[in-house]
Amino acid sequence: MRVLSGMQPSGRLHLGNYLGALTNWKTLQEDHTCFFFVADWHALSTNYEDTGLVTTYVRELLIDWLAAGIDPERSTVFIQSHVPEHAVLQLLLSMLTPVSWLERNPTYKEKQEQLEGRDLSTHGFLGYPVLQAADILLYKADAVPVGKDQLPHLELTREIARRFNSLYTPVLVEPKELLTEFPKVVGTDGRKMSKSYRNTINLSDPEPTVRQTLKTMVTDPARVKRTDPGNPEICPVFEFHKIYSDATVIDQVNEECRTAKIGCIDCKKFVADRVVAQLSPIWEARSSLEANPAKLDEVARDGCDRASKISRQTLEEVKEAMKISV
Ligand code: TRP
Ligand code: SF4
Repeated sequence: MRVLSGMQPSGRLHLGNYLGALTNWKTLQEDHTCFFFVADWHALSTNYEDTGLVTTYVRELLIDWLAAGIDPERSTVFIQSHVPEHAVLQLLLSMLTPVSWLERNPTYKEKQEQLEGRDLSTHGFLGYPVLQAADILLYKADAVPVGKDQLPHLELTREIARRFNSLYTPVLVEPKELLTEFPKVVGTDGRKMSKSYRNTINLSDPEPTVRQTLKTMVTDPARVKRTDPGNPEICPVFEFHKIYSDATVIDQVNEECRTAKIGCIDCKKFVADRVVAQLSPIWEARSSLEANPAKLDEVARDGCDRASKISRQTLEEVKEAMKISV
């Protein structure tokens, strides 16, 4: 299969992103031809007024990916804006995409409501899914690993491909989604881990921060004193155990919390040790990448070369199908 996915450079990656998307990408790259790119133009659709952080986050995202085990030898890792064919195909597809399809895209309205302070009544924001369709169709991807929130964009991509293929000749491939199965990771306040809730543990957080964050994490609010019994079912620390601890520890915590045999401090320390063990190799890889910016440039350049070969070829086929190659 040819697999493609992208992420917007809109912040540092946290454990939710790592466990949800990145570990999935890592598995996919073992058996498939994978393309992973930083969607920096997409980030402009909501950050056009203040573009300052976008370039910083592009590099941070690449560092996180590589440190987490995305292998640029196996996978083609690149930056969207380095491959201008994305913009050209976006323009051509926009000619045949009905505005009504974009207006009824649920994420269009939702995001506009969420990001209240920003003026998102722009052409670029409305056309976000057309750029995403171009990203995917340029590489004739068979499968796109995404979270549930991206399903409307995948459906639009297929509709655009179908319309193109029926208007001209069938050169575009309708992709299917690969839903990321991993259950939601809770944040330190018990809600879903999310940048906008400020309840994350980031891959770039140093060890003392991670330990401190886990130490101060909320627990069962009824467990005030050490001698009060607790209920792990409503405790976010226990959710971390379910992800990070082995079955015997989970059973032990489940029992000893209810009988107040284990205290929250020890309980949290167990989790912290496991999280630190998982993050340690990532931290090491991060710091060697940070010390070697040339390596990052080389990865991006090589990825761009490989991506460009394919995207130029597809764009040629698209123009021929449309009878506009002169
Ligand atoms: N819209 C995606 C997100 O916000 C990012 C993205 C852009 C993407 N282009 C893509 C994902 C192509 C998959 C395929 O998460
Ligand atoms: Fe939560 Fe663990 Fe404390 Fe029980 S012992 S309330 S599971 S932190």
